[in-house]
Amino acid sequence: MPGVSRYYLETFGCQMNVHDSDRMGEVLRAHGWTAVNSPDDAELVVFNTCSVREKAEQKLRSEVGKLAPLKAARPELVIAVAGCVAQQEGEKLLKRVSHLDLVIGPDNIPELPKLVQEQLAGAPPRARTEFDLVETSFLSASPDAGRKPSSAMVTTMKGCDERCSFCIVPYTRGPERYRPAAEIVNEVAKWVATGAQEVLLLGQTVDSYRDASLPPPASDDPDESQFPSLLRLIAREVPGLKRLRYTSPHPRHATESLARAHAEVGILAHHIHLPVQSGSNRMLKRMIRRYTREEFVVRARRLLAAQPDMTMSTDIIVGFPGETDEDFEATLSLVQEVGFTALFGFKYSPRPYTPALRLVDDVPEAVKAERLARLFATIDLQGNAHLARLVGRQEEVLFEGVSKTDNNMGLKRRFQGRTIRNEIVHVLVPSEFDLTNVMATATITRANKHSLEGDLDPGTVALLPRTSRASSRSLPLIVGNP
Ligand code: SAH
Ligand code: F3S
Repeated sequence: MPGVSRYYLETFGCQMNVHDSDRMGEVLRAHGWTAVNSPDDAELVVFNTCSVREKAEQKLRSEVGKLAPLKAARPELVIAVAGCVAQQEGEKLLKRVSHLDLVIGPDNIPELPKLVQEQLAGAPPRARTEFDLVETSFLSASPDAGRKPSSAMVTTMKGCDERCSFCIVPYTRGPERYRPAAEIVNEVAKWVATGAQEVLLLGQTVDSYRDASLPPPASDDPDESQFPSLLRLIAREVPGLKRLRYTSPHPRHATESLARAHAEVGILAHHIHLPVQSGSNRMLKRMIRRYTREEFVVRARRLLAAQPDMTMSTDIIVGFPGETDEDFEATLSLVQEVGFTALFGFKYSPRPYTPALRLVDDVPEAVKAERLARLFATIDLQGNAHLARLVGRQEEVLFEGVSKTDNNMGLKRRFQGRTIRNEIVHVLVPSEFDLTNVMATATITRANKHSLEGDLDPGTVALLPRTSRASSRSLPLIVGNP
């Protein structure tokens, strides 16, 4: 069909969704589709949605609503909704959101091109939201077809078997299914071969990983998994990989053997994002988190001790049903006790199909807002103090590319990268040099509110690739002494 092959894809939500969008782009491109930057130029518009927080369906309705004039002018335009809202509402969404043609769940991404073709051929609106429970498959990334990032995301599992009472994910992503370790290793190797220096392993409870091909868990303790073995396997099998991160672990599986892996696997980041949600045992119980504050502290401290400069960030929900001032004070004191350097804080919002709907959402909005502000004030103090301590230090930085704050003017360009602990570092280099996907040592000169400024030493700058050569370079480059 001439001309009918351009798609516009918009992503909401977490890294898992960003990853799913990359796969959608790949399956579409493999079927002759081309990405465009505006729905105006597209024959297919896909919204990859998130329903973890806020009023997801309303947001979606307004996004689709904005396309109404376009759909009226070009009725053949296919509008598709993917991701968690699609999985959650399925068929019902077709009835409730006008102009919608296709609803497609996360496990049905491989079918996207075929379903879109059916729509273009005049089929009635359709919803496909089946979990692949029997024959689970994981779409492999095709690194060569897409971008060549310095850092790539690799999925290790789907779904979640926890039942945190506030969380919709087990409903929208189904039960846990693990990707075979050999497939994970292959994909990591594929990314490294195309130039990635860092890999971020993704999973809802990434540290619950199991695979029969790996050595058995360290003990019969149900909290032990084979995730530490997976980390070791990747490090061993893909020697070209420079950095390995993962998100998000569940504190239950943050065992002794995971801490040991951090102490022994040299490429593991010196940072871990370990969602705690609350510092009050009463709240943790109501949230069905399956650990106490005291257990969390032991696990967090053990990980923090695994490497000398390890840092930790977390997720926190304020205003969960029944949360008193005292419960909230316990959260603040936990933030201080563990010494998190960053956190994501959220006001509790009731989600459909979750166990917490049985509890009354009784914390007034103003109280939630005030608690969130106090939480942010606390973490800002800790985060800023941490960044200030780094001034004067030499840090190995993996540069992603030109910084968003670069004004593309003058003789110098501003590049952005990350330390082994994930702090953002900006440096200025003469504009003839390109720092994209370069690992280099920078001396930290200043701490901003949420990032650092640094200088490369002049000897390093002289070794950097020049801008004109940079476009043809895809293999990683390490300068200085990483
Ligand atoms: N295990 C997942 C968690 C997904 S949800 C992961 O890989 O990150 C991400 C965060 O959103 C949770 O840690 C929690 O802090 C927050 N969240 C989830 N449900 C919420 C709700 N109903 N209200 C407010 N925040 C919520
Ligand atoms: Fe959600 Fe808890 Fe799983 S936060 S994703 S149910 S670990």
